[in-house]
Amino acid sequence: MASGGVGTRGLVLLRTIPLFHGVLDPQLEQIAGVANHRKVTRGTVIVRAGDVTDSLYILINGSARVLNSDDEGREVILSILGPGDFFGEMGLIDGSPRSADVVAAEACEMLVISKADFKRCLQENFEVALNIMKRLVERLRDADRKIESLALMDVYGRVAKLLLEFSEMHDGHRVIRRKITKQDIAKMIGASREMVSRVMKDLEASGYIRVEEGQIVLDEG
Ligand code: CMP
Repeated sequence: MASGGVGTRGLVLLRTIPLFHGVLDPQLEQIAGVANHRKVTRGTVIVRAGDVTDSLYILINGSARVLNSDDEGREVILSILGPGDFFGEMGLIDGSPRSADVVAAEACEMLVISKADFKRCLQENFEVALNIMKRLVERLRDADRKIESLALMDVYGRVAKLLLEFSEMHDGHRVIRRKITKQDIAKMIGASREMVSRVMKDLEASGYIRVEEGQIVLDEG
């Protein structure tokens, strides 16, 4: 495998990453030996749509938006990735150019594995191949749900569905703890920011959501 490596700290990290669940320590050590550490600042385009593919990325800290844009600069956010998520696998699997931009939404720390090392890792670790397949199936399910809501729901329904999907139970309440702006929501559901603001104001006035200490709390209604 190629030189590089993130040492013992990398091994500890790899054990916590879903992509490597089920992989034994000797194999993890090999992967830690070829992964490189990279830090980027907010706004960095880590992967650009159309580029030739060369690496797989695993996010350790921070968050990144996966997005596509048209010639007029209008954007659609396909996903927001957080710690433990990986990206850049699609081009490595089918050899096509990058399918989307991946842009750091805040400062990010990542592990980077070269194409050759990633392919070898897949061949030698069936668990990694299976974990990739599981994640791809999850993404397909997410995409199916998105197509369904775009085709069948109005903007109120789409906003409510997205808020529910982003929420988690915390101290007996359903709360959105991740940073997500109205602009992000608009770009994820194919609506204008103004429309999303209006819908969220209505949801707040009707007692379905409230904003507390910067977090959105969803009330059972
Ligand atoms: P790749 O096509 O190599 O480069 C862009 C990456 O964005 C892609 O691999 C995936 O890792 C990621 N990506 C593309 N579409 C989605 C999606 N719908 N959800 C999550 N990640 C995606």
